[in-house]
Amino acid sequence: MERAQSTDVGLDDLTRTDPGSLAGCYLRRFWQPLCLSADVEAGRARREKIMGQFVTVYRGESGAIHVVADRCAHRGVQLSVGWVQGDEIRCFYHGWKFNGAGQCVEAPAETPGFASRMKVRAYPARDYLGVVFAYLGEGEPPVFPRYPELEDESEGVLVCAARAPVPCNFFQRVENAVDQVHVAFAHGDVFGPEGAADIPDYSVEETSYGLCARGRRPGKQDRLTHFHMPNINVMRVPPGKDEVGWSPNVVWRVPVDDGHHRSVNIRRVRKAPGAAPIENNYKRNVTDKQVDYAREILAGRMRLDELDPTRDRAIIVAVQDNIAQMGQGPVAPRQEDHLGRSDVGVVAVRRLWLDELRRLANGEVLRDWRRPNDGLRLTSGVEKELA
Ligand code: FES
Ligand SMILES: [Fe+2]
Repeated sequence: MERAQSTDVGLDDLTRTDPGSLAGCYLRRFWQPLCLSADVEAGRARREKIMGQFVTVYRGESGAIHVVADRCAHRGVQLSVGWVQGDEIRCFYHGWKFNGAGQCVEAPAETPGFASRMKVRAYPARDYLGVVFAYLGEGEPPVFPRYPELEDESEGVLVCAARAPVPCNFFQRVENAVDQVHVAFAHGDVFGPEGAADIPDYSVEETSYGLCARGRRPGKQDRLTHFHMPNINVMRVPPGKDEVGWSPNVVWRVPVDDGHHRSVNIRRVRKAPGAAPIENNYKRNVTDKQVDYAREILAGRMRLDELDPTRDRAIIVAVQDNIAQMGQGPVAPRQEDHLGRSDVGVVAVRRLWLDELRRLANGEVLRDWRRPNDGLRLTSGVEKELA
């Protein structure tokens, strides 16, 4: 599925991730989150769309997670409506059964030996910190990247969310990750008390994993955000409802298709005194509204200040970000931007991506993006800088 050689890589290539597209091939070289582990019970299957492609995610009765093709090799029926039996999935239409490696192990109406010649595509998959990840690229998957700052159970309770698709291109959200200036305006009312609402003196450094963006504000601590190639943001975020303290947050911006993306995020949070216990893998159930509110506000049928400010401010922040991202249109024509000095992050992230896409198009060796071996330990030293 690798794309034909090309050297004329441009901004539009950053937004196209269907199978066979250049950015699609690039993103498929990294493990990507598909859904929450809790969304796939043992013995169940579900259909997920990612980068313009559907896949079947199922959990065997043993608890093992598997990701295989969307459609049966026989006559193309959607495999997610079939039955999970043991660690295999049986097609709804004529009962062909496939194992987690995609091998057909039974074709009940066919002659002996027939099934062994049939296969569907299967993808390496694993559960990690409450999220199902898959490798959708060619060949062997890269080393699975771990996030030690999220693994430390003494740091609080694990909370993950696979948010509802937002109707705009994922790269708009990727660029937002290295834009601290928007915090002063889009989130000014929410972050004001933490002093993040001032316009920072902003710089961006290239690192072994991507970019580290630093916002300096006179008399205040620097704010650091870490962008990990190709679509991950690591930062600390302020407490949501029933939480206390800023929490480490890792968020993936995942294309659903070119006109939609979803955020999948994992945090460690501490419960506020007196609040009800927060359950592991707790999934926020209001995520669809964050898109609906943004749509209503953009259409002029509602105003942001009509949202109850006493509600969970994480939700208000998400609505604000959705307004900013959706407000650029489904796939923003980036050639029409007029960038200034505060857009150093946007310029840097485009450059990293375009360099990599050119290498990929020309068959050159890609960069080996690595986090420090023990991760970016937000719990020691760096935590103070990020708080
Ligand atoms: S389409 Fe799946 S068994 Fe016939
Ligand atoms: Fe934001």
